[in-house]
Amino acid sequence: MKKLIIINGPNLNLLGKREPNVYGNLSFTEFLDTIKNKYSNVSLEHFQSNVEGEIINKIQDVGFDYDGIVLNAAAYTHTSVGIGDAVKAIQTPVVEVHISNTFGREEFRHHSFISPNAKGVILGFGLQSYELAIQSFL
Ligand code: DQA
Repeated sequence: MKKLIIINGPNLNLLGKREPNVYGNLSFTEFLDTIKNKYSNVSLEHFQSNVEGEIINKIQDVGFDYDGIVLNAAAYTHTSVGIGDAVKAIQTPVVEVHISNTFGREEFRHHSFISPNAKGVILGFGLQSYELAIQSFL
């Protein structure tokens, strides 16, 4: 059984309530339930934190024996050298995801410290971005 984890960064705990015009109406828990049922042949974990260091700790914890990491570092994507370095340091492949099309938004969202070391990047497909990332590991 493939072992995958979704790691979500700051403010993604507010999905469903937060800027629904950008991020949709569904909470992540609701979405995750559907995905877990659909991909029951996969061990799929989820971790969310609003704290940069906790995200780095989790990347390090899973980064040497999981089969894949689906990472939406949210705002830290654009600011965190530390998360970028953690992605570079580990062996597990990381697929970077974003719900919104960050290239269609403010210029500060066009840069990612994660992309250079990600296996791939999926963005702009709403919550389906996560599902596409999961499929990429199967
Ligand atoms: C996001 C895009 C980021 O720019 C933003 O800070 C987020 C969410 C996305 O999934 O579209 O919090 O990563």
